Amino acid sequence: MALLEVRDLHVFYGNIEALKGISLDAEEGEIVAILGGNGAGKTTTLRTISGLLRPRTGTVTFQGRNIVGVAAHAIVGLGLGHVPEGRRIFTILSVEENLNLGAYLIRSQGALLRARKAAVYQLFPRLAERKHQLAGTLSGGEQQMLAIGRALMSDPKVLMLDEPSLGLSPLLARSVLKTVREVANDGTTVLLVEQNARQALAIADRAYVIETGRIVLEGKASILATDERVQKAYLGGFEAMTSA
Ligand SMILES: Nc1ncnc2c1ncn2[C@@H]1O[C@H](COP(=O)(O)OP(=O)(O)OP(=O)(O)O)[C@@H](O)[C@H]1O
Ligand SMILES: [Mg+2]
Repeated sequence: MALLEVRDLHVFYGNIEALKGISLDAEEGEIVAILGGNGAGKTTTLRTISGLLRPRTGTVTFQGRNIVGVAAHAIVGLGLGHVPEGRRIFTILSVEENLNLGAYLIRSQGALLRARKAAVYQLFPRLAERKHQLAGTLSGGEQQMLAIGRALMSDPKVLMLDEPSLGLSPLLARSVLKTVREVANDGTTVLLVEQNARQALAIADRAYVIETGRIVLEGKASILATDERVQKAYLGGFEAMTSA
């Protein structure tokens, strides 16, 4: 049984069915990319797994337990961290204070808190240099690093990232995604929602492609990267492939 098993999720906003039977698996230490165009249902999928939305039917099984109906904060406590779209950091708090808030579950355990912070600073040296800077004055890329770092403070078993490269320069996007690969290499499972299909497939183990609430393609990332349909729809065709 996979660490995370999502089965046949149907999610509605009012009368509109946003997810029409989404199923996916994620194993320990694996990066699973979720690709798809605007409005496909990627964010809705992550929000349903995190308990922020409740599916009408379907199950989310984490470590053998169905977590549908469990409160979102309790799901974080079970080991599922979520970095939402648009990196919601606390702009008027410092980098360090933002990280402390990410560790509220272990707030009374000083040594553990310091160790986790040190690990985040090692992963993102830019944050270490800016510990006392107000988060709102960080660059977009640094804010994304902080949002990921804050989620890592709860030492999640599964880290869900919603478009971490959005708005970043290609160079910075690559650097953030490289760090995501390091996080997975340490054993954390990553669910990676990305519009940047090329870079996502380059670091992912497997991928799912969603269109209008349904999975239309799935498989090994290296194989999907060469799939003609994926290239046409998400990689800008042959020309873009060779010029990148
Ligand atoms: N709060 C909401 N109320 C009504 N409809 C919603 C709501 N949130 C999302 N939707 C609709 O559900 C569908 C899926 O949206 P979702 O945000 O999951 O897409 P996405 O794949 O994350 O897109 P993007 O790449 O643009 O972020 C869209 O048609 C969207 O308009
Ligand atoms: Mg989205």
